[in-house]
Amino acid sequence: MSDVPYILGHSPAEVRRLMLQAAILKPITERLLREAGLTPGLRVLDLGCGCGDVAMLAAELVGPNGAVVGIDRSAEVLAVARERAQAAGHANIEFRESAAEDFVDQAPFDLAIGRYVLIHQGNPAAFIRSAASHVRRGGIIAFHEIGIYGECQALPPVPLWQQTWSWARAGLRSVMVHPDAGGRMIAHFHEAGLSSRRCSAKSRSTAVQIPQSTPGWHSQCAACCHKSRRLVPPRQRRSISTPWRTACATR
Ligand SMILES: C[S@@+](CC[C@H](N)C(=O)[O-])C[C@H]1O[C@@H](n2cnc3c(N)ncnc32)[C@H](O)[C@@H]1O
Repeated sequence: MSDVPYILGHSPAEVRRLMLQAAILKPITERLLREAGLTPGLRVLDLGCGCGDVAMLAAELVGPNGAVVGIDRSAEVLAVARERAQAAGHANIEFRESAAEDFVDQAPFDLAIGRYVLIHQGNPAAFIRSAASHVRRGGIIAFHEIGIYGECQALPPVPLWQQTWSWARAGLRSVMVHPDAGGRMIAHFHEAGLSSRRCSAKSRSTAVQIPQSTPGWHSQCAACCHKSRRLVPPRQRRSISTPWRTACATR
């Protein structure tokens, strides 16, 4: 099962949602990259780069003497990524169309990163193995993932968010092959043959605290509702459409 289609697609609305999500996730991904050992001058591979947010973050961190290659299976989303990177003045990023499993490059990378990609893979361990095949000996493999299970608490509590999450979780779990990949990272790394003293995982599984003033917060709620609505069977859609409208109205 290496070629599971990407179920969220790359419509303009989904691309906007990815960018909103990226703004919220940026500090967590940045901390992961720094703790993993990303320093100026390194060469980085971003697997499943989408519209380029992780690649652009990595490009800032490696600086002008480093380089970043972002790959994705979708030519459509890569066009968005290229345009954004160019507008942001990143001369050290290149985007290429390829599945991670088929990607070849003339030289190994210092670090491979993937964000929110393992959940979409038929075989997460095989995907991690392919990430490892792209880095040099002693290189770094890092993933920032989500586990779509359990509760997703908001502090302070935001009832709309709780409700949105339960719908999004039901919708996503009904179509994803590995919605729990974020909670099983150690197991997947182990299965990929990469567990060792130098393998570590951090989890913030009980609560993610995001100020309500975060730009895009309500839009992200609305986008999640809209997305779950499209994923669930038609008969259940009606119950999701009302809160989606409410979310938009309470912006
Ligand atoms: C949820 S998006 C995340 C995008 C980006 N990493 C971010 O965090 O904003 C996942 C992306 O991975 C891509 N993708 C999924 N499986 C892939 C694979 N096997 N090889 C390359 N790209 C893949 C999809 O096309 C999609 O653009």
